[in-house]
Amino acid sequence: MSVTVVDHPLAGHLLTSLRDRATPPAVFRTLAKRLALALVLEALHDLPTAEIDVQTPLETAKGRVLGELVAVPILRAGLGMLEAATELFPEIAVGYIGLERDEASLQPQSYYRKLPPVSGRHVLVLDPMLATGGSGSAGCSAVKGAGEPASIRFVCVVAAPEGVARMQADHPDVPIFTAAVDRQLNDHGYILPGLGDFGDRLFGTE
Ligand code: PRP
Ligand code: URA
Repeated sequence: MSVTVVDHPLAGHLLTSLRDRATPPAVFRTLAKRLALALVLEALHDLPTAEIDVQTPLETAKGRVLGELVAVPILRAGLGMLEAATELFPEIAVGYIGLERDEASLQPQSYYRKLPPVSGRHVLVLDPMLATGGSGSAGCSAVKGAGEPASIRFVCVVAAPEGVARMQADHPDVPIFTAAVDRQLNDHGYILPGLGDFGDRLFGTE
């Protein structure tokens, strides 16, 4: 399984502002989307394309077109990354997986699922925080349970080593794309140094 840390200077710059506790939700939302643009582009850099002929005003040229894509944000926080995918790829189909971690057990509780057909398509699972990895792993399992995707890529903003290890154990076929792999989890399952609760900061529910 591969872990790609997107180390473009812009990604580092945006992540620093997201980490900053003084960044208010309105700015946080804008920066999260901007960072997600960089992450999604990197996650799809090796997406297979098909060759077609295209008529220019002068002659026929060879061109390439994208295969079918699906974005699956894990609610709620994954919504902060969705617009990046839909703006870059307007034809992308969108599915939703609702998961919320139980505060005591840290296990993800499923409360919603609506997926488009995934078989033969390339699926991006979007969840900004890969902490214990329970939610990311459950999200990928849900996608696999819905069909036979051509590929699944997991895109997050910050990963913890524990989450990377969980994904490696459960979904070694799913590459991870992230802006950072942080140091560790604290006793409450939060990533250190991290950026706090992404969903709360995105939606102002702190
Ligand atoms: C957060 C985050 C991930 C999950 C990561 O969601 O968005 O989905 O925690 O933790 P894990 O790797 O230990 O499973 P949360 O459950 O807080 O719900 P929210 O997105 O509605 O805020
Ligand atoms: N979910 C978050 O939003 N932040 C963390 O650090 C861990 C899980």
